[in-house]
Amino acid sequence: MTQSVNLTLEDNIAVIEIANPPVNALSHAVRSGLQDAFRGIAENDAIKAIVVYGAGRTFVAGADIREFGQPPKEPFLPELINEIESCTRPVIASVHGTVLGGGLELALGAHYRIAAPKTKLGLPEVSLGLLPGAGGTQRLPRLVPVTKAIDMITSGKPVSANEALELGLIDQISGEDDMRAAGLAYAKALVKQGAGPRPVSGLPCNTPEDGLFDKARATLAKKARGQLASQKCIDAIEGAVNLPFAEGLAQERALFRALMDSDQRAALIHAFFSERQVGKLPEIKDVEPRILENVGIIGGGTMGSGIATSALLAGLTVTLIERDAEAVAKAEGTVSKNLAGAVKRGKLSQEKFDAIMAGHFKAGSDYDALAEADLVIEAVFESMDVKKEVFGKLDKICKPGAVLASNTSYLDVDEIAEITSRPADVIGLHFFSPAHVMRLLEIVVGAKTAPDVVATGFALAKRLGKIGVRAGVCDGFIGNRILATYRKAIDGAVLAGASPFDVDRALVDFGLAMGPFAVSDLAGLDIGYMTRQRLAATRDPREVYAEFSDKLCEDGHHGRKTGRGFYDYSGEQPVPNDDILGYISEERAAKGIESRSLSDQEIIDRYMAAMVNEAALVVEEGIAQRPLDVDVTLLNGYGFPRWRGGPMQYADTVGVDKILNDIKRFAEEDDFLWQPAPLLEKLAAEGKTFASLNA
Ligand code: 3HC
Ligand code: NAI
Repeated sequence: MTQSVNLTLEDNIAVIEIANPPVNALSHAVRSGLQDAFRGIAENDAIKAIVVYGAGRTFVAGADIREFGQPPKEPFLPELINEIESCTRPVIASVHGTVLGGGLELALGAHYRIAAPKTKLGLPEVSLGLLPGAGGTQRLPRLVPVTKAIDMITSGKPVSANEALELGLIDQISGEDDMRAAGLAYAKALVKQGAGPRPVSGLPCNTPEDGLFDKARATLAKKARGQLASQKCIDAIEGAVNLPFAEGLAQERALFRALMDSDQRAALIHAFFSERQVGKLPEIKDVEPRILENVGIIGGGTMGSGIATSALLAGLTVTLIERDAEAVAKAEGTVSKNLAGAVKRGKLSQEKFDAIMAGHFKAGSDYDALAEADLVIEAVFESMDVKKEVFGKLDKICKPGAVLASNTSYLDVDEIAEITSRPADVIGLHFFSPAHVMRLLEIVVGAKTAPDVVATGFALAKRLGKIGVRAGVCDGFIGNRILATYRKAIDGAVLAGASPFDVDRALVDFGLAMGPFAVSDLAGLDIGYMTRQRLAATRDPREVYAEFSDKLCEDGHHGRKTGRGFYDYSGEQPVPNDDILGYISEERAAKGIESRSLSDQEIIDRYMAAMVNEAALVVEEGIAQRPLDVDVTLLNGYGFPRWRGGPMQYADTVGVDKILNDIKRFAEEDDFLWQPAPLLEKLAAEGKTFASLNA
């Protein structure tokens, strides 16, 4: 036995506690401990039943992901679960918390399952690029309808204890949260009834409706475009229906192993750990964040009302300031509509909605209302003059110790801070639109920002259910700065001969949720236009500046909001706006560019090389602390495909030297845009990866 598995005996019932904090993952020590425990029990005829439960906040949340990628060590989980299932006395899994992946598979290997009322049960392996590899795809459809098994396994979403009971996935919901006691009581009742082992593998598999697997494959081809694991999940579940248990299990194992070796698995696990690593910074280790209850927001437009919604949903009190009564009413309307949407989707109760509208949310135009705010987030127009005026007022009104934040997308947070008498309290909190939906929060740390203000930024992200990424001050911080560069690269691809529609299609095929030109239409073409205008005076004359987007904007086409941009939105579905091709050919002629055809691969290579190169600069300059901060930013704010792990992970996968060679190749056409970042050259020369800089 190991310390992470403890066996005790009570009234001839063996009680096995799994104690491997924080989430009782099935590490080698836990697997060995469980095997030892069950082997001991096999030799003790006095034992009438066995209860397995988890110590601490949860039962088992899965296999130990940290062991993935290392040589597997015996006992392997599928065999261990088979061994548990073959126990000659009833085995009861008494579960609580998050019963996930290998944890649910372990529970499925038990003969009876009892769960605490708030338990969540699921098989989330697909979100790590895997499939349940310890019998989950074989046992689940023997208990629940095949269509539900497909849904659970391919979505990775957990079900509640109530739903699990209705489905037959568990046998009982316990009346108490002490799962040792609940398991023991259930075991005693079973022994009293004379109940014996009830292995799920011995049950017939449920019968699917005709055509179910083909339908599921077709749906997933669209919904989980490009992803290997979801299709393989279907293959494995089909095996449960068509093959004897042992053969189905062997097939599941083979499919699992193949996925374990895939780049997608490596990328998704990189994303999982990076998102947990991103807030761990020496700068805020052991630093207490400031109190955060009353939030002030200035500006109730697109961003301000979204930020207010997000804060209110997290239970914070919000005071929103707008310019005049009309703007106040508009902002109130937007926030209330957003919250009503949350009620509709079951994310907020009607009672909480009523309480928010009755007292937790106030809007007005008097800045004095911010005197007691713990944190004020400014989301007014993107103009340095307007922002300075606002921060000047805040400096006079806000209480000492209040955190003063700007949601600026690009502007210099240090310059804003200097207008106040308290630059240590000033920080950038860059939300993404829609702010109550998007998970990313760039926490922009100025030269004088105090560590507890940085810690407060991260505490806010956590409270709002967002992922905070630390960024340094520069034009556009991490995300928008990289975006500006890869936009130049694809504008260059268009000038060279691709159409914006070719670019969008190639990049959607690569895995982006939307093509970059379609995204510009959605954001509003005027936004990028204003940024380019702001930077026009400082633009390097060597830059090959693409003008077609500006032309479109100057002709009054701002994208979706005007019904026309790169696409035409007047019909049911957006269609390409072919007028843009006219602007582009005129520009090519004026610049003396002879149009050529670009393959989809070249479009992708240009896009990725520009992204990785700028990201390397961002890391080198300390704007991002580590490559993983860039990956988390692009994954959560810019629609980069999660199964590719982010641009730095992508570069490591295809090879840093390949990216460098691409840059050199493209530099033959434009040696101003395509200048290799010194860090990229260094890594390529040393044969190192970006991941090597994450430690
Ligand atoms: N293995 C190893 N470590 C894990 C882990 C796992 N399965 N799950 C979580 N952890 C670690 C996290 O990395 C984190 O470590 P840190 O404190 O050093 O950063 C710590 O546990 C706490 O995790 P969270 O910060 O995510 O805590 P939350 O309370 O927010 O969430 C959770 C808990 C819901 C369990 C969440 O961590 C989670 O979703 N974990 C992954 C679950 C999963 O995917 N399981 C399937 C694994 S694959 C599998 O089982 C294969 C099998 O079929 C053979
Ligand atoms: P918006 O134009 O929708 O809203 C700005 C609001 O600020 C308006 O309602 C205006 O009435 C109000 N306002 C202006 N001056 C004010 C003042 N002195 N006092 C009180 N209210 C004032 O603009 P949006 O899109 O919400 O952007 C706001 C900020 O957020 C900008 O800095 C922008 O760069 C940034 N941002 C925008 C994103 C987007 O996608 N729209 C994403 C992330 C950041």
